[in-house]
Amino acid sequence: MTISMIAARSRNGVIGRDGDMPWHLPDDLKYFKRTTMGHPMIMGRKTFDAMGVLPGRRSIVVTRQAGWSAEGVETASSLDHALAMVGDDDVFIVGGAQIYEQALPFADRILLTEIDVEVEGDTYFPTLTPDQWRETSRDPQDGFTWVTYERAVPRATLVLGDRVGRGARTKIGASVAVMQGGRLLVTRREDNSLWCLPGGGIDPGETFAEAAIREAYEETGIQVEVESLIGVYTDPDIVIRSRGGSAHTQIYGVCFLARLVSGTPGLSDEVTEVAWVDADEASRLPFIPLHRRLVKAAFGSPDASPIFV
Ligand SMILES: NC(=O)c1ccc[n+]([C@@H]2O[C@H](COP(=O)([O-])OP(=O)(O)OC[C@H]3O[C@@H](n4cnc5c(N)ncnc54)[C@H](OP(=O)(O)O)[C@@H]3O)[C@@H](O)[C@H]2O)c1
Repeated sequence: MTISMIAARSRNGVIGRDGDMPWHLPDDLKYFKRTTMGHPMIMGRKTFDAMGVLPGRRSIVVTRQAGWSAEGVETASSLDHALAMVGDDDVFIVGGAQIYEQALPFADRILLTEIDVEVEGDTYFPTLTPDQWRETSRDPQDGFTWVTYERAVPRATLVLGDRVGRGARTKIGASVAVMQGGRLLVTRREDNSLWCLPGGGIDPGETFAEAAIREAYEETGIQVEVESLIGVYTDPDIVIRSRGGSAHTQIYGVCFLARLVSGTPGLSDEVTEVAWVDADEASRLPFIPLHRRLVKAAFGSPDASPIFV
């Protein structure tokens, strides 16, 4: 997913006046159309009021008004919500000032039309700091220039040490250590017959805790509540190789201590056995390597720091 912001701005930073744009640049509107065509767009409610429905593009309008709706667009209650609705698709943030401001920390690139005028206005594009954004292309036109900025430092960085698999894809996961009466809930995986804690990969838009709760439910049918963080983990020595041998994945995850709210652990497609084990029983089970230290930490073992990024 690439998050692009696209905007037109005067030399003094203006993007709007009285709810509209203080200029009319047909060539720039054509550029906007061909760039965004076929991609989802996210906009603030005021920009939608000015722009209306643009055909050929899924439009998500962000508003705090619970009952707001308009034909031809979807609504979202926040920018986070709108980004989650988009999933993995490349998306364009199309304004206005409030939405640009909030989207700036998430954006990967900015397509800015820099217009050679100084105008009065009431809405402004956020300031771009040179250490965060670098110019990567500049295409002068008659009276304005199309400029591309890219994030100088990637928006989410996992620094790979020498032993961490270079070139490996990163999979982000979340897991739960569910404790009850001094016993830990463990599951046996269908794919390699090893034991582990319930957990799995995060879906786009989920928090770590939401992913852990969902995975516990999907794998064993129980409802859990997370109580505290056990650790943030990856293993510098382990890169998961797919069966074919071509894809290499480095897993990076978060593990929570959790409490059983309802249900009895059962089996699923991914789980062939479930058990509540004490520390002694756990030490004799074959766990997937990534979870060995988490299991020790769940039992409060002092030598089991699970923070080994
Ligand atoms: N030059 C350009 O490229 C460009 C592009 C786009 C827009 N513009 C201009 O920018 C101006 C509009 O910008 P603006 O900043 O006034 O408004 P805006 O960002 O388009 O929309 C603001 C509205 O979005 C909703 N909103 C904002 N943050 C939200 C959040 N966190 N959660 C839920 N809803 C949220 C609220 O809608 P509710 O009030 O419904 O709750 C808020 O009133 C216009 O003049 C327009 O022409 C210029």
